[in-house]
Amino acid sequence: MSPISRIARRPALRRALVPGALAGILLLTVLLGGSAGPPAAAAPASAPPPQEEPGEAAEPAAAEYDLELCGACHEDVVASFGRGPHAWIDSAEWAEEHGPSFSCASCHGDLTQHVEEGGGTDNVFAFGPETTPLAQSGVCLTCHGDEHPRFLHSQHSRAGVTCATCHDVHHPQTASVSLLRGSQTALPPRPMDDLSLATRTCAECHSAVLTQFEFNERHRLQEGVMECQSCHDPHAPSPRGTLLAAHEQGCVSCHTDKEGPFVFEHGSIQVEGCTACHTPHGSPNRHLLTFQRTAELCFSCHAAVPGFHSRFTLATVCTNCHSSIHGSNFDRFFLK
Ligand code: HEC
Ligand code: HEC
Ligand code: HEC
Ligand code: HEC
Ligand code: HEC
Ligand code: HEC
Ligand code: HEC
Ligand code: HEC
Ligand code: HEC
Ligand code: HEC
Repeated sequence: MSPISRIARRPALRRALVPGALAGILLLTVLLGGSAGPPAAAAPASAPPPQEEPGEAAEPAAAEYDLELCGACHEDVVASFGRGPHAWIDSAEWAEEHGPSFSCASCHGDLTQHVEEGGGTDNVFAFGPETTPLAQSGVCLTCHGDEHPRFLHSQHSRAGVTCATCHDVHHPQTASVSLLRGSQTALPPRPMDDLSLATRTCAECHSAVLTQFEFNERHRLQEGVMECQSCHDPHAPSPRGTLLAAHEQGCVSCHTDKEGPFVFEHGSIQVEGCTACHTPHGSPNRHLLTFQRTAELCFSCHAAVPGFHSRFTLATVCTNCHSSIHGSNFDRFFLK
């Protein structure tokens, strides 16, 4: 079954539909008028009522048929759908550019039989257990494939997480935030008020990671200053399992002074990236270091140090002398 089809083209359906067409347009108008309003980028679904074009037969777009038709039996679903960006798509424009009109069928497949039989679960693509996660994400990717071309290779997709696991197409929490689901369960830790909707979505499954942001030294996630996706892309595979490698880790997009290139690079950053020395989420150690004491951190890689270093102990703050530890343009030992 092709996920994209155009139910309103079916003559049988069309006959059944036309009498309700005007009501459908009215319903659409009410739905959209009552919504929180589309973002400037999204075209509002204000397809001109066909009646206003005298030369043409009254032929409302498929989406409008759907709202009327499906709404008769799925009132709540249709109403909440009207608050999200898919309902703002101008189906006439869409049809012009992409062929089939944008409608419920764009995601649920050809619904002719479903409607003719008055419902049931057999002839509809329902995003339930009877379809594989791959097939479910595949439906979304027919349109969003350019945005997220590598999703199917991501850790998420391979673990059976689908687009609709994180995005709630039918029940937008707010009009603007990418239809994210947020969390369904009450999350145990701390006040959640300032956590962004996106972070809550992640925390639903990665609550242990959220806990790491409770340390004193941490990135300011709880305040809503950052979000999980400030560092991670939930839509893409990552070579190191978690993120992009070394300098691509994304850290330097904010910490630009650490990016270099330096005349004298610290070898470890080149090879292992920032996480060779820092814990990204949160840590009891100052500066989010992986060791409590700086010397321990240095000695974890450097067995050989100059002889005069023998007077130093684990309590020595090596960076008092090696102050440009992230790289230097002046000194190969990072002393300035
Ligand atoms: C952008 C894709 C998409 C479009 C367009 C879409 N749906 Fe859905 N629909 C879904 C997904 C995904 C689910 C699975 C449930 C979920 O993720 O919350 C679903 C679930 C449903 C369900 C069953 C679950 C429930 O909440 O009762 C119904 C009924 C439904 N959709 C009807 C419609 C109707 C009617 C339209 C047109 C107004 C429509 N859908 C348009 C993606 C879509
Ligand atoms: C005559 C009533 C009726 C009409 C019209 C109707 N449906 Fe349904 N639909 C049902 C019934 C009944 C079910 C089964 C609900 C259940 O078993 O939970 C259903 C189930 C569904 C499901 C979920 C299937 C599942 O396995 O959970 C989707 C999606 C759906 N309909 C979409 C649509 C769309 C889109 C339209 C408009 C093109 C539409 N329906 C029109 C009655 C209708
Ligand atoms: C693990 C959760 C998760 C999964 C799975 C997921 N997304 Fe997202 N998606 C997000 C988050 C979080 C954002 C918000 C990104 C931001 O605000 O920068 C987002 C943003 C988006 C956006 C808004 C524009 C953009 O690219 O930032 C689109 C469109 C989108 N996702 C579509 C999809 C599609 C299609 C799939 C499946 C192929 C999918 N998403 C799978 C979490 C997810
Ligand atoms: C037939 C094409 C089509 C299909 C299928 C489709 N979408 Fe969309 N989607 C769109 C269009 C068009 C927009 C509006 C884009 C815009 O306003 O920039 C959109 C918007 C979105 C947004 C909001 C983007 C933002 O910037 O906030 C999300 C999230 C999203 N879709 C997720 C999904 C998911 C999840 C599925 C599968 C269940 C899906 N889409 C299926 C065409 C589609
Ligand atoms: C529905 C549950 C779920 C949600 C929601 C979710 N994830 Fe995941 N995530 C998983 C699963 C399952 C894996 C794969 C498990 C594994 O490989 O250890 C995973 C893997 C990851 C990984 C790779 C971990 C590793 O060890 O390689 C990162 C990073 C990640 N998720 C970040 C996020 C972010 C960021 C969000 C929110 C935008 C998010 N996840 C939302 C379930 C989820
Ligand atoms: C400051 C950037 C940053 C932020 C913000 C961030 N992460 Fe991470 N995360 C990383 C890096 C870097 C790694 C890789 C750590 C490593 O390789 O040792 C990682 C590892 C992970 C892993 C796999 C290893 C583990 O600890 O389980 C998961 C899952 C994960 N992050 C999820 C999340 C979630 C969920 C959020 C939001 C609550 C989040 N991250 C916020 C940078 C970040
Ligand atoms: C979205 C921007 C952003 C990204 C991406 C980011 N950071 Fe940060 N980072 C900050 C901000 C802002 C602070 C200051 C936190 C505060 O005000 O409490 C900070 C603080 C830190 C600190 C502690 C500084 C101190 O004085 O103790 C370290 C270490 C750090 N970040 C390392 C990293 C690493 C490693 C990565 C990549 C895994 C990363 N950051 C990614 C914005 C970012
Ligand atoms: C070889 C270990 C090492 C690596 C790799 C490393 N750092 Fe650091 N970083 C340190 C040490 C040690 C400190 C504490 C400096 C001090 O004691 O004053 C520090 C401090 C910081 C601070 C807070 C103080 C400041 O200078 O702003 C930030 C932010 C930071 N690092 C970001 C990064 C980023 C981003 C990367 C990756 C590009 C990175 N670090 C890689 C060892 C490292
Ligand atoms: C993750 C491993 C790692 C850690 C931790 C680490 N380094 Fe390095 N460091 C290296 C590597 C690799 C080189 C490059 C070695 C080479 O070129 O011979 C290097 C080079 C240096 C050099 C220059 C040596 C030369 O001959 O040019 C100095 C000085 C140095 N590190 C000091 C420190 C100090 C001080 C700390 C603790 C704050 C530290 N390093 C932490 C891996 C590490
Ligand atoms: C009092 C200042 C000072 C302190 C404190 C200090 N160093 Fe150094 N370090 C130096 C100087 C100066 C050099 C360059 C020696 C040379 O010219 O051969 C050096 C060189 C090094 C080198 C490069 C060795 C080589 O020849 O490749 C390493 C590694 C190193 N220090 C590690 C450490 C560690 C680990 C600590 C903390 C336990 C530390 N240093 C504390 C001054 C210091």
